[in-house]
Order: sequence, then structure tokens, then C-alpha cells
Amino acid sequence: GRHYQVDVIAGDGIGQEVMSAATVCVDAVAEACGFSIAWRDRDWGSDYYRSHGRMMPVDGLEQLADGDAILLGAVGAPDIPDDVTLWGLLIPIRREFLQYVNLRPVRILPGVSSPLRDADGLDMVIVRENVEGEYSEVGGRLYRGRPEEMAVQEAVFTRRGVVRIAEYAVAQAKARRGLLTSATKSNGIIHTMLFWDEVVAEVATAAGLEVDKMLIDALAARVVLKPRSLDVIVASNLFGDIISDLAAAAAGSIGVAPSANINPPKDHPSMFEPVHGSAPDIAGQGIANPVGQLWAAAMMLQHLGETEGADRLTAAFESALAAGVRTRDLGGQATTAEFTQAVLARCTDTSGARDA
Ligand code: NAD
Ligand code: IPM
Ligand code: MN
Repeated sequence: GRHYQVDVIAGDGIGQEVMSAATVCVDAVAEACGFSIAWRDRDWGSDYYRSHGRMMPVDGLEQLADGDAILLGAVGAPDIPDDVTLWGLLIPIRREFLQYVNLRPVRILPGVSSPLRDADGLDMVIVRENVEGEYSEVGGRLYRGRPEEMAVQEAVFTRRGVVRIAEYAVAQAKARRGLLTSATKSNGIIHTMLFWDEVVAEVATAAGLEVDKMLIDALAARVVLKPRSLDVIVASNLFGDIISDLAAAAAGSIGVAPSANINPPKDHPSMFEPVHGSAPDIAGQGIANPVGQLWAAAMMLQHLGETEGADRLTAAFESALAAGVRTRDLGGQATTAEFTQAVLARCTDTSGARDA
């Protein structure tokens, strides 16, 4: 049969709570669809840091390299600086495995209501550049504690980096409604964004697609006011990060939003994770919404070629939501465990519940 090795990094805070929901539901779907997954559990993250002084083993990336995919929960703890936790685990995986696409679909799920007035039919995908741009290693802090103290970080945009993300976004747009919006800030201030615009336009023109470039500030307003007018948004690392939470909230909650960190040539494993973080404010209460993690797991199954499994898992959490089982962030009362049970029942049951 079809068999996959998936590395599981549940990580910190609610990452631990939503991950168990995903692995049990994926196992159920796998059994129903005739494939299996060997989960390689990695106890990496902030607890690992507290006992080992590192977020993952020295050869952590090598350990992941031969897997078929990585499923990640969240990273970040209130008592450890974010630059330590993030540069020690999440960011090196994205960069070393050249996961240069961060794909973030956003749509209104059944039974979920948007805080916006006019969001019916909101359905977009954010194609976020994931290895360069504003998230660069060039720069640092100098003269700590002195009057001269300063911090500098250079945004790095390479032609190759912008071309490949633009090409990916163009392909997405062609497979969808054909509308490509590029997030920019090129009104004379940011040099790198003039370059971004030029390269994105070249790629789109060569592919016979028109690109609508939009200043990021105005685009943020458009997400709120006319969300249905957006189809594919291509954005730099930082702009894509910000617009993702905005769009996810517009679709009801950041707790439902998934993200796929993809290495398109498949030279390295890709990584699937929710858009949200470790949510220390609700961690340990058993109330986190596992939908972002479940949807990320469905994207992983799709990536592995298990389309039927991906569809089945998606149908299962959509059906649970449609039946009114909802966690608190969505205005419901269900705990993580109760919601997971509702999804699990729909993963295994091929009649009744799934169509209800
Ligand atoms: P967050 O996404 O963790 O939380 C923001 C808000 O959304 C909180 O009020 C939280 O309770 C709520 N929320 C998030 N996910 C939810 C879910 N599944 N169900 C219900 N409510 C949910 O962002 P933050 O508080 O700014 O960051 C917390 C930590 O997580 C920081 O250390 C940050 O660096 C880290 N972080 C990690 C990742 C990642 O691992 N990919 C992503 C974002 C933030
Ligand atoms: C995300 C997160 C990360 C990012 C942080 C935690 C570094 O916000 O995945 O959206 O900015 O990429
Ligand atoms: Mn983010």
C-alpha cells in the first residue's frame, strides 16, 4: 500500500493541543482511503530548549530531510525571546528546505460567520514569498545600551526569488478566477518594491496574465471592504504575513487558517502548519480551534497525492462546522476534544453524518 513518513513537530502552547486532533483524524482518513502514515514525533520546541539549550538537535534538519512532509503545530513561548524560538526552529526549516512558497487559502467555511458586512463568497489564496524579502539575516543590533544603539535589517529581493514566486502565483491565478493582485509599496519610498513590481509584471506579461498591483495599505482596506473582489494575492514575506491574519480574521477566525510551506521542485520536504501561533493566552485550556491544523493536514495529503483523503478530511471538518459544532473563537462552546470527536466520526462514517 501507499505509505508515508511524516515528521510531527507539535511545538508549543496550543500547537500540542491541535496537533493530536490532526494526527487522529488523518489516521482515520488514511485507513478509509487505503494508505498509511508513520508519524515521526519530534519533541522539539521550547521545552526542548529549556533542557537542551537549543530548539532542535544540531542535526535536526538532516533528520527531517528524508521524510515525505512535515506537520508543524506552533512555536513560541512567553518566557523565551521569539527570535530564539523562531530562528531556532521554524525559520531554518522554511529556508534550508527552500520552501519558498507559503500558500494560504482563505474562504468562508460552512457555519462560520464573517465579521464583515459583505463577505459571502470570500474565496482567495495568498501566495506569500517565504524565504527572502524583509525576513533577512542581513543586519543586526549594534551598540546595545548606548546612546548610539541601533537596529538595521536589509530587505533582500533577488530576481530569481521574485520570479519563482510570481510564476507560482500566476499558475494559481490561471487555475482559479484569473485575477492576480500583487501587494506592493512602490509609491516612491521602498526601492525593493519597485523591483518587485517590475519582475512580477514581467512574469505575468510573459504568461499572458494581467497583474493588478496594489499598495499594501489600500489592499488591507480592500480585504475588509471588497473581499470578494480578490482571488490570488502575491506578496512579499512580511506583507504576506500581515495580510494573511487580516484575511483569516475576515473569514471568521485566525484559528481556521492553514498554511503550506512548499518546496515546489520537491527536492526537500514541504511543511504544513496553521497560520496562527502558540496562543499562550488560551494554551492549556483545551479550547483551541483545531481547524487550521486540520486544514493544513488536508493540504499535506493533497501535496502527497492523496486527493481523496484530503477531500474526505476537509468534508469532515466542514460538516462538523455546518452541524453547529464550533469552538469559542467561532462563537460556539465546543472544546478542542469535542470538536475533534465530531470530525473523527465524520472521517470514518461514509454515510449519514458526512452528508448531514
Ligand atoms: P497567535 O496566533 O498565537 O494568537 C493570536 C490570537 O488568536 C490570540 O488571542 C489567540 O488566543 C487566538 N488564536 C490563535 N489561534 C487560535 C486557535 N486555533 N483557536 C482559538 N483562538 C486562537 O499570535 P500571538 O499571540 O501574536 O503569538 C503567540 C506566539 O506564537 C508568539 O511567540 C509568536 O511568535 C508565535 N507565533 C508562531 C507561529 C508559528 O509557529 N508558525 C505563528 C504566529 C505566531
Ligand atoms: C506565520 C508566523 C511567522 C511568520 C512568525 C512566527 C515568524 O507569523 O507563520 O505567519 O511571520 O512567518
Ligand atoms: Mn503570521
